[in-house]
Amino acid sequence: MRKKIIAGNWKMNYSLYQGEEFLLSILDRINIDNVDVVVCPNYIMLSSFSEILFSKNSKVKLGAQNVYFEDKGAYTGEVSADMLNSIGVDYCIVGHSERRQYFKETDEDINKKVKKILEKDMTAILCVGETLEQRNNNEMFKIIENQLEHDLKDVSKEEVYKKVVIAYEPIWAIGTGVTATSIQAEEMCSFIREKIGKMYGANVAENIRIQYGGSVNTKNVKEILSMDNIDGALVGGASLSDDFVAIVNYDN
Ligand code: PGA
Repeated sequence: MRKKIIAGNWKMNYSLYQGEEFLLSILDRINIDNVDVVVCPNYIMLSSFSEILFSKNSKVKLGAQNVYFEDKGAYTGEVSADMLNSIGVDYCIVGHSERRQYFKETDEDINKKVKKILEKDMTAILCVGETLEQRNNNEMFKIIENQLEHDLKDVSKEEVYKKVVIAYEPIWAIGTGVTATSIQAEEMCSFIREKIGKMYGANVAENIRIQYGGSVNTKNVKEILSMDNIDGALVGGASLSDDFVAIVNYDN
């Protein structure tokens, strides 16, 4: 039985003070055993959030939204996996469509980042997804298959088994208020599981957790997470308000 995992991707929102205040306002209400909950604020909040989560003995885990694949050196503006790991970050989002689109991250960059995250013993939340045009041209399966093959190149079976979560995020559903139907989301998540099975075997496919992301909200979360192959959600906009508490408690 795969444990559900719900992650909040705060993107570039909230100052440190606002973020701390919001985190403290939701923490006591996130006290669940049957779901892994991850909060992914911007870099400047991570260290303080780590202390807050530790001091509150919280089960909520900390995730970063990005990382650089080099260990250290002259890379102005970048943050390494070691730096994240050293302050208690457990998860790192990688390959988000906003990074692919606005920051021109390639599958090769994403693959290097995945490998670095795993090498430093964090869990990678690897995002894959197609554009509306690709869906309309019925190319979505090919696109997702390509992303998985390139982004997980040379990543071992053991690592994928233990330390990779896949987030299926159709680009047309992100921040648009348009959600994939639960049937569309399930169809792709089931395809992803099948593909992971071909790449790594049935055992890994059965174990890997696959999230859906794209306009998840308090109203649609329950139906989406009731699908056989959907093991959680990556939540953007709705993770910035009290809605996140309702989303992680979707089953109560
Ligand atoms: P959204 O974002 O929930 O605001 O659509 C999801 C994401 O980008 O991870």
